[in-house]
Amino acid sequence: MKDKLNKIEEAALQSASVAASEAELQQVRARYLGRKGEITAVMKGMGQLSPEERPLAGALANQVKDRLEAAFAERQESLRQELMQQKLANECLDVTLPGRRRRRGYKHPITQVTEEIIEIFAALGFGVAEGPEIERDFYNFEALNIPKDHPARDMQDTFYVSEDVVLRTHTSPVQIRTMLKQKPPVRVVAPGTVYRRDSDITHSPMFHQIEGFLVDRQVTFGDLKGILTTFVTEFFGKNVDVRFRPSFFPFTEPSAEVDIQCVICGGTGCRVCGQSGWLEILGSGMIDPEVFKSVDYDPELYTGFAFGLGIERIAMLKYGVNDLRLFFENDLRFLKQF
Ligand code: FA5
Ligand code: MG
Repeated sequence: MKDKLNKIEEAALQSASVAASEAELQQVRARYLGRKGEITAVMKGMGQLSPEERPLAGALANQVKDRLEAAFAERQESLRQELMQQKLANECLDVTLPGRRRRRGYKHPITQVTEEIIEIFAALGFGVAEGPEIERDFYNFEALNIPKDHPARDMQDTFYVSEDVVLRTHTSPVQIRTMLKQKPPVRVVAPGTVYRRDSDITHSPMFHQIEGFLVDRQVTFGDLKGILTTFVTEFFGKNVDVRFRPSFFPFTEPSAEVDIQCVICGGTGCRVCGQSGWLEILGSGMIDPEVFKSVDYDPELYTGFAFGLGIERIAMLKYGVNDLRLFFENDLRFLKQF
């Protein structure tokens, strides 16, 4: 009896010490101490012992049972510790790793420059208007004194949607739309996207303009010069050279283009300014009486001026960017600088 118990105890301790998990240990426990376990069986068999032997055997069995309980509990605790250590090792957090930063967004440089330009004209009393990018031939050409077979249509390589519908080639159609809705005096700037079949370092097939126009009684070319000079001075600071160069647009008479000194080369000549030292930033002029006729303004009563600024050109000059197409490549390394 005693031998038997000792053997069982030894085997049970051995099994417990090699149990690799709590579940396995649970099985070992059941095998020895469970209702059908080996120790339980021994205890049940004590009925056959003589009355003298019984208490001794009972005490012995209880001691074994207690020792095994204690051993199982101890093994269980150490298995738990092991598991915990393992988990800690596997799921460890390195709190010194830098976090994932959310990148801050910026306004596109063209948007920034557009807003800056609008602000300057707003301070001069100009309101803001907008028009569609997909435009009727009438607004983009016809009402601007550019009839269907006029050679001036060659000046702007046009994307045609259909015979009568184009992607607007300039923001000047907003002049027509505004004047058809509003009687003089008008003083409006109209920013927007325009399209031409053009691509090189100072031309992009999609670019932006701001149209500006003012119609009232007794508006003169001097007013035009004054407003545009004020704008250039405000935007670039006082020390940028500006020149007004005679030009031609079917919708203005007389017409002028405005160049500013090339800031890339300081006026000595480079790729950007085509070696001329100057970069054209806008077209302008006194609104042609023919245009007033198509919007039903009385040319005897009113005069006005208009201009169309190339926003990318102005942004290039402001930031010293030497290729206009960089603005549209969406390279964050470029865009982040603004
Ligand atoms: C016009 O578009 C006229 N509508 C401007 C105007 C308005 C004249 C009102 C008179 C009265 P022009 O084609 O020159 O003009 O373009 C005006 C400006 O847009 C240019 O000075 C230039 O700065 C810019 N520009 C022209 N083509 C491109 C292009 N492909 N990419 C980027 N900028 C351009
Ligand atoms: Mg031009």
